[in-house]
Amino acid sequence: MATPHITADVGEIAPLVLMPGDPRRAERIAKDILDDPKLVSEVRGIGAWTGTYNGTPMSVMASGMGIPSVCIYATELYRFYGVKRIIRVGTCGAMSPNVRVRDVIVATAAHTNSSLPHLFVPDASLSLAPSFSLLHGAGHAAKAVKDVPVHFGPIYSSDHFYLVKPATTEGLIKLGTLGVEMEATGLYATAMAEGGEALAILTASDHLFDPSQDMTAAERETSYQAMVEIAANTLVF
Ligand code: HPA
Repeated sequence: MATPHITADVGEIAPLVLMPGDPRRAERIAKDILDDPKLVSEVRGIGAWTGTYNGTPMSVMASGMGIPSVCIYATELYRFYGVKRIIRVGTCGAMSPNVRVRDVIVATAAHTNSSLPHLFVPDASLSLAPSFSLLHGAGHAAKAVKDVPVHFGPIYSSDHFYLVKPATTEGLIKLGTLGVEMEATGLYATAMAEGGEALAILTASDHLFDPSQDMTAAERETSYQAMVEIAANTLVF
């Protein structure tokens, strides 16, 4: 059985899913970390790959960009494919002065300017948090990473890449927000609505207030590898 956005048969997607935003990155992660990766869906260029990670079945599937896109794929995976755990692996803009470009952020909460947290229950705004067991697993998995700082804290999912008002960033930074991206809120809300588990682990690809912190190609690589390693080991924890 296929869904409107995924053509894999039920059973062809593993219960554990790594979810980058970018389809090319999904293919690369699948080929880097999975044994025997097979392409099981590619509707709209959103590839889904399934193989094994240290012997455990695992899939890698892209989310596309933005909250609506991640909501579509995550809903179909949890609701129709029996997926239990999804970890988003992506990039974010660092906001906090304590976070440097190339650092890894584990999102312990997702603030947003999206109306999504209001759509599920009348007169209530959902508190969007990850699964505790995944967060706990990430705490353990992060200990094995020595060469990249790993921060745990809230992030901000914006509905617009280019429209982030200075008063918003200032207020969010005062509340300890570490970075800005565009999907974690959608994943956390969908997991809550569908009874699945979710977590977002991010690499700071730029800094909102310090464009001089550009990453070298080598730094990008170590940071990306640390994020993927933490995420894959958390999925199987
Ligand atoms: N804003 C939103 N999403 C992002 C950013 C950003 O600065 N960097 C990486 N993803």
